[in-house]
Amino acid sequence: MRIGILGAGGMADALGTQWARAGHTVMISGRDPGRSTAQAGEMRAQAVRTPAGQADVRAGTWAEAACFGEVVMVAVREAGLVDVLRAAGASMRGKPVIDVTNAAAPDRYDPTRPIARLISDLTGGHVVKAFNLCHVDVWRMTPPVFGGRPLAVPLCGDDPAAMDAARTLVADLGCKPLNGGGLDRATQLEATAAFVIGLWFGGADAQAILPPLDSSGAHGQG
Ligand SMILES: NC(=O)c1ccc[n+]([C@@H]2O[C@H](COP(=O)([O-])OP(=O)(O)OC[C@H]3O[C@@H](n4cnc5c(N)ncnc54)[C@H](OP(=O)(O)O)[C@@H]3O)[C@@H](O)[C@H]2O)c1
Repeated sequence: MRIGILGAGGMADALGTQWARAGHTVMISGRDPGRSTAQAGEMRAQAVRTPAGQADVRAGTWAEAACFGEVVMVAVREAGLVDVLRAAGASMRGKPVIDVTNAAAPDRYDPTRPIARLISDLTGGHVVKAFNLCHVDVWRMTPPVFGGRPLAVPLCGDDPAAMDAARTLVADLGCKPLNGGGLDRATQLEATAAFVIGLWFGGADAQAILPPLDSSGAHGQG
């Protein structure tokens, strides 16, 4: 599929390179056309799939990437989010929009101002919150597997077609898509990210805070 990415930073690079390697066509975008074009070149080089197979990664403006994508990923810093979405224009309306955005810092997250809902309101796109729980280096792994288990990626969104597209993109990384509920639940996903990132920054092993399913108390629950 054609994937437009608002962003040319770490997350755009990590996920966009994986998806280009999987055969998708990717357009990234940033504030500086020269830098985005150079970044797209690096991604093409990283994503080469076979000696004969060229990966397709391009660079464009915010509006070009939004228009280009059958699916659009929002991967910009929160500080620039509103300006970037305004510059991207109206072409995300009705499209699947993957939102990876987190608050600028764990203690800056405001659950009364959910980011995914803001993106939905500003774009009219079918937003799916995803990929926001793990560090960018995790998304560079081929594949992200820990202790023999593929990483599970929770997805929160309302639109079935957008959720399907997100599931495909998760599977393309070698990860396991996990239904996290509707877009209302994206607020919880954003808060979860703020909480666990706070633990990790404090040096704690956040993965250790949860028991396995068979000790979760959920047995026999419908
Ligand atoms: N890094 C992680 O480990 C990670 C993990 C999960 C989620 N996230 C989230 O993913 C999003 C992107 O993170 P990233 O790591 O890709 O960030 P990054 O490497 O710093 O790239 C940020 C992107 O945002 C753009 N941007 C637009 N307006 C901006 C502004 N006012 N200030 C700063 N940047 C602005 C930058 O444009 P230019 O290209 O012109 O600089 C760049 O393309 C963030 O919301 C972050 O919270 C990050």
